Amino acid sequence: MTHPDPSPQVLITEPWPDYALVDSGEGRKLERLGRFLIDRPEPQAMWVRTDPKIWHKANATFTAGSDDDDSDTGKGRWQFTSPPPETFPLAWQDVGFLGRFTAFRHLAVFPEQAAHWQTIQRHARAANRPLKVLNLFGYTGLASLAAAQAGAEVTHVDASKKALQWGKDNQAAAGLQQAKIRWLLDDAQKFVAREVRRGHRYDGIILDPPKYGRGPKGERWQVFDDLPQLMADCGAILADDAKFFILTGYAARLSCLSLLALAQQHVARVDGQWQCGELALREELGGRLLSTALYAKWECQVGGRQLI
Ligand SMILES: C[S@@+](CC[C@H](N)C(=O)[O-])C[C@H]1O[C@@H](n2cnc3c(N)ncnc32)[C@H](O)[C@@H]1O
Repeated sequence: MTHPDPSPQVLITEPWPDYALVDSGEGRKLERLGRFLIDRPEPQAMWVRTDPKIWHKANATFTAGSDDDDSDTGKGRWQFTSPPPETFPLAWQDVGFLGRFTAFRHLAVFPEQAAHWQTIQRHARAANRPLKVLNLFGYTGLASLAAAQAGAEVTHVDASKKALQWGKDNQAAAGLQQAKIRWLLDDAQKFVAREVRRGHRYDGIILDPPKYGRGPKGERWQVFDDLPQLMADCGAILADDAKFFILTGYAARLSCLSLLALAQQHVARVDGQWQCGELALREELGGRLLSTALYAKWECQVGGRQLI
């Protein structure tokens, strides 16, 4: 298979009514999520802030522990100007979900993934049947909800009971109780290997593997060691007439070109379009782009085939 030169592309998530990257700089980012203004660490934001005064209005601030500059596992703590609710209602377009202040700085949503939610919905809506979509490492299920809302039948796999429960809570918050979403507590690698043996196929796969992780029975996940086999298995369960394959990486020392080369090796498609690049958030105040993740994806041409 020949590999066209990929010109990496930035997929930009613009501010939306319930989310904005308001400002960033000096190692931190200031985000608006629903009614909260949230100040969190962001080592990449090495520049000067656009509006230093607005940062004083933050009502939630996360301080990282001393041994922890950019990891999901290091200690740190939240400080609030008043006690926060356990959850608060949010929406992306007309998909409702719940925000949370979780341990390790996260907010139960990765807003830059909105670029992928749009891609998934575009394919699900254009299809003349419910697409079978697999969401691996699916966390709180925003991609699953976006897919289900557009008519897809979703298999959502995650190793965390808590994340799965939050996903189900989100399904209720979205009013999508009738939608077909299977919430599976499983190890992503074991699940996909079983799907290969069972001969099951999917029309679309989205996966967002962390750098390190554990399956529900303590199965070890290390992206550099384990991603190649997982990709080979994903390639095997992608249907011949599949619509999309989307791989995201947040791990340090990873390039989107590596994600692309690996994905192209296993998701061997001669039709459709490959793309790789970065996911970025557009700052509301300065208009700067803050890159938060890397991706590689393959999509069939909606409404017809396109040869590369
Ligand atoms: C970075 S989050 C994914 C974020 C999600 N894609 C989103 O946009 O909201 C990583 C998720 O992988 C899960 N995870 C880690 N190791 C796993 C494994 N071996 N099998 C399945 N899920 C795993 C974690 O529980 C966590 O929910």
